[in-house]
Amino acid sequence: MTGRPTVVVTRRLPSPVEDRLRTLFDARLNTTDAPLDEAALAGAMRDADALVPTVTDRITATLLGTPGRRVRIVSTFGVGFNNIDVAAAREHGVVVTNTPDVLTDDTADLAITLLLMVARRTGEGERLVRAGDWTGWRPTQMLGTRVTGKTLGLIGFGRIGRAVAARASGGFRMRVVWHDPFAGDDAASLGGERRISIEAVLQESDFVSLHCPATPETRHLMNADRLAAMRPGAFLINTARGDVVDETALVRALREGTIAGAGLDVFEREPAVSRELLAMDNVVLLPHLGSATEETRVAMGNRAVDNLAAFFGGSAPRDRVA
Ligand code: DGY
Repeated sequence: MTGRPTVVVTRRLPSPVEDRLRTLFDARLNTTDAPLDEAALAGAMRDADALVPTVTDRITATLLGTPGRRVRIVSTFGVGFNNIDVAAAREHGVVVTNTPDVLTDDTADLAITLLLMVARRTGEGERLVRAGDWTGWRPTQMLGTRVTGKTLGLIGFGRIGRAVAARASGGFRMRVVWHDPFAGDDAASLGGERRISIEAVLQESDFVSLHCPATPETRHLMNADRLAAMRPGAFLINTARGDVVDETALVRALREGTIAGAGLDVFEREPAVSRELLAMDNVVLLPHLGSATEETRVAMGNRAVDNLAAFFGGSAPRDRVA
């Protein structure tokens, strides 16, 4: 290749990352931050050597098969890559990379934030104060659920699940049980108590937090039956992906009191959120903030840039997933 590789970036990235992209590449940055439509993405596939998408872009088989495609690497800004058809990328010889590790702590922090918020009714309390409706302290006002010493069930015990476990057991003396079919035999050394079935985790847990990737196998993993298998009075936390929970079944479970509440950072049809959830006080709703700190978003961008630099420098990108 002669000259600097052309890199199309689909959304605004933190300035230090955009500066680095400008220095290293012929960077086509998105100054308006408006999502690229299908035609613009197809144009990028034809005109650029690399694409840096985010979770809001669907990189489909059609896009990867764009006639005259020039893009050779899709370096996504994010650890999750369920928005990219990796099988099609492999078929078309397009390399795909992601940005693991750097967002583990912040995402774990947010899972704990949701757990505390929903257990202690803090969203509801804040709404009360802001509405000017607080009439003063009283012994029976807005009683929540204690977190310390309770049982936390984790579905998925990878990097983020383990970071949540460390916070919960170290900070809140919680007992941690988990299920992860991909954890190796040495997983016992990671702490917590392994369970062979998801149902066993659900039956034992006061709080269930989801940390599995979105795949065809995990779609609607938390369906009506699994929600019914949770303890009455238990809470569901989701910082993974919206697809993992059947949102319609969740609404019903919350409405019927099958479970006590939910803390959600991700939704099945983002940015749309079920109207019923918006109206429920026992639900905490956040706008996909898991990795949203200055430090982590810069680190994610740098990791995406590192992957591009390695690829165009002729070495293997560290975070290749296809
Ligand atoms: C991730 O990195 O997967 C976050 O959810 C943002 O996309």
